[in-house]
Amino acid sequence: MNVDTMTDTARLTFEDKEIELPVVRGSEGEVALDISKLRGQSGLITLDKGFKNTGSTTSAITFLNGEEGILRYRGYAIEDLAENTSFMEVAYLLVYGDLPTQKRLDWFEDSIKMHTLVHENMKRFFDAFPLGAHPMGMLSAMSSTLSTFYPDSQDPNRSMEDIDMTIHRLIAKLPTLAAQCYKHNMGHPMVYPANDLSYTENFLYMMFGLPTDDYEIDPIINDAINKLLILHADHEQNCSTSTVRVVGSSQANLYSSISAGISALWGPLHGGANQAVIEMLEQIKADGGDLQKWIDKAKDKTDSFRLMGFGHRVYKNFDPRARIIKKSADEVLAKLGINDPVLDIAKQLEEVALKDEYFVQRGLYPNVDFYSGIIYRALGIPTEMFTVMFALGRLPGWIAQWKEMLENGEPIGRPRQVYTGHNARPVQPLAQR
Ligand code: CMC
Repeated sequence: MNVDTMTDTARLTFEDKEIELPVVRGSEGEVALDISKLRGQSGLITLDKGFKNTGSTTSAITFLNGEEGILRYRGYAIEDLAENTSFMEVAYLLVYGDLPTQKRLDWFEDSIKMHTLVHENMKRFFDAFPLGAHPMGMLSAMSSTLSTFYPDSQDPNRSMEDIDMTIHRLIAKLPTLAAQCYKHNMGHPMVYPANDLSYTENFLYMMFGLPTDDYEIDPIINDAINKLLILHADHEQNCSTSTVRVVGSSQANLYSSISAGISALWGPLHGGANQAVIEMLEQIKADGGDLQKWIDKAKDKTDSFRLMGFGHRVYKNFDPRARIIKKSADEVLAKLGINDPVLDIAKQLEEVALKDEYFVQRGLYPNVDFYSGIIYRALGIPTEMFTVMFALGRLPGWIAQWKEMLENGEPIGRPRQVYTGHNARPVQPLAQR
């Protein structure tokens, strides 16, 4: 393969054919070969299991450099945003492309507050879920259910104003539904939204308040939640975001596309890792706390066990979100005066793994989910709700990516494959098989 930097064309030689591939350059100097016409020109397709090396789109939302540990939303460093903005400002930034003025923020927040209630009939769906149902299963189902209550969202040709309404409804209602998932499993009455509170305060109120009590919001907890949601708000073309874009590319409505994203996020290799981290730490503790034994298990190729919360597809030096959240975790634990043996195991595990040759060589560092699990636990959020918290944070990112796909008029997502099965063969009559 040769790349001609003058014409920005790469030439691929295959058998006796030379194929020209356009080179696409991103605003941060990333370079890609555009292979969209490759099959038409040569009959070839590319093979890249897990899309480790495939750009599925061009995007102006999030820039990520895994080698240098850089993460920016719309050009703003994650560190800057986490320190100086609210989750609502970041949600606006992702969805509309720029940080809001005070006037625009008021408009956005007021509109979100108008839509926090969910239809009373949706409560009946909760009644039907078994006690102990995983909240991610309920949340995914309820997100898709919203499309049946707002059938206009199913029209692929609706105006941008109508789309905005769907976006605001979803941002407004997902915390209400998330809190309802929690209340359902607790067997507690649901708490209706309080629209005089901020987005994160209202969520805490619906989670931990009771209809009869004066729930006081701890500002330390509220700040930590705000930061966590910002850190999770987008992460370019990860598994769940790619899912949202692919489902949306068929012109499925936003609620259903987000429902698919929630399902993708649920897996322990993706957002479900924050739950898996705490479960792993509890298992280590119950087993007597022998860290080396578990590190050896993670290194053993005949054992399927992995150290949850370690490693990342794109960050091979450090996860910038993990750095921010580690600091925040330390602060929150100190401020709340938490003394938890499971969290002590987490600290020791981190120390041992960071020095271990196996983890160092492979660039396996604690990721955001290692610390977010720790912080959520300290805040009193039950383990099964951790991935729901991730989903609440990721929602504006999913929406922004879905909207961008729509605005760019992207074609339906439909990868190809290399078939490795049987060649054509006739069906034998049943008696002869
Ligand atoms: N524990 C032990 N070994 C690991 C781990 C781990 N957590 N992660 C990767 N490895 C090893 C893996 O066995 C392989 O070793 P070898 O080269 O000897 O075959 C090597 O490291 C590369 O792993 P990979 O599976 O090819 O890497 P990947 O980029 O496909 O996977 C990952 C990334 C996040 C799925 C993986 O590191 C993992 O399973 N981590 C644990 C789950 C986790 O914490 N997930 C949350 C990710 S952050 C939240 C998000 O953004 O979704």
